[in-house]
Amino acid sequence: MAEKFVIEPSGALRGTVEIGGAKNAVLPVIAAAILSEHPCTLQNVPNLSDVEAMCILTESLGVKTVADKNSGVLSIDASKINSLDASYELVGKLRASFLIMGPLLARFGRAKVPLPGGCAIGSRPVDLHLKGFAALGAEIDHSHGFVTASAKKLKGAKIYLDFPSVGATENIMMAAVFASGQTILENCASEPEIVDLANFLNSIGGKIRGAGTDTIKIDGVVQLEPRTVKHSIIPDRIEAGTFMIAAALTRGDVTLSNVLADHVKPVTAKLKEVNVNVEEGDFGVRVFCTPSAEIIAADLKTLPYPGFPTDMQAQFMSLMSTAVGTSVITETVFENRFMQVGELKRMGADIKIESRSAIVEGVPRLTGTQVAASDLRAGAALVLAALRADGATEISGIHHIDRGYDCFDSRLNQLGAKIKRTENV
Ligand code: EPZ
Repeated sequence: MAEKFVIEPSGALRGTVEIGGAKNAVLPVIAAAILSEHPCTLQNVPNLSDVEAMCILTESLGVKTVADKNSGVLSIDASKINSLDASYELVGKLRASFLIMGPLLARFGRAKVPLPGGCAIGSRPVDLHLKGFAALGAEIDHSHGFVTASAKKLKGAKIYLDFPSVGATENIMMAAVFASGQTILENCASEPEIVDLANFLNSIGGKIRGAGTDTIKIDGVVQLEPRTVKHSIIPDRIEAGTFMIAAALTRGDVTLSNVLADHVKPVTAKLKEVNVNVEEGDFGVRVFCTPSAEIIAADLKTLPYPGFPTDMQAQFMSLMSTAVGTSVITETVFENRFMQVGELKRMGADIKIESRSAIVEGVPRLTGTQVAASDLRAGAALVLAALRADGATEISGIHHIDRGYDCFDSRLNQLGAKIKRTENV
């Protein structure tokens, strides 16, 4: 049943919102659980359709998962894997499915996974993942849209990533857990989600050092000793950043709890640059606007962590659409991540795309209309823009939003938004 949001302009959002577990941390950790024949328990797991999809995929290989959506606890038992082949249907639903390749290759010496297709934001190749597996001694075969990696025994290697790819760093780190000797990953991604995955791998018996820097060392182990593993997923810094921008855009006063202020530093710095107040403390992070203060335009360039996250670019563009002045927003990570521009322009935004940059001329107000979400973050950006638009906005394609935001509408409504979820007839 296709659903849509109908959003009336809300006043200033006010109150406290609790941030959930990170989608982009829990997905690789669920894949990593395949490495161990001993059960493990994950806590602070968000209730998202992407998480459900990843569980269904691992269950198709023989993994047992039990999710308690109320408590956010996910129990995983990968003791009985009975297939090393992932299906096209299941992998097609979730790009992150490709992350099962490293663990399957590490534990069983083989994995066959459909090549993930592109998506709205880009072609999303996996060449760096495969180069890493090959460097560890795996044989890589492509046929009929599937890629098979196989190796009798993986051997530690020194691998330099052409680009600090998050997924490639995660997949190669997992593949190297049982490789003989040491693997050194250089120019790798340093996102907080990489650190969370490394912490999980170490908790099940892996030997990973340097996560969070541009060089990670993995000392291969022969096997994982039985341990009682309870791993709590880090808070979602992109969900947090999205709520921070919602507060700024509506000129509100919102406190985020269960957030790691360090992880949202790039967003905090940029909000302060555009004249929004941000306070940090044991309580979490508070975002508020001085009533008479105007939000002024600032330029933005997305970069790998600790730069400004590409996953926050669309939301920041919504904020700049009604800022005072001109903002040049440059997307350096993905080749096609301006899908929200056309929809924002239908709401009255003044945006011109020039190659990898969008030139945003702030206008006093956007106007409500019918728009469509094309991907997760573009959809979130449209919700934010609608909060302060003149008149009602209808957003279709909200299944994209549900992939990465748990109860996004009801949590915004608790802060004063006016969002109705209805059938898209
Ligand atoms: C992860 O995707 C996130 N997804 C993305 O979040 C996020 O935008 C991205 O990292 C960058 O931070 C998950 O963690 C599940 P990459 P990933 O490999 O791993 C190129 C969201 O909205 N590349 O760092 O796929 C690639 O084309 C999602 O939550 C290669 O060329 O990102 C892209 O231009 C969207 N070859 C750039 O690197 C490769 O082998 C960054 O990709 C791999 C990547």
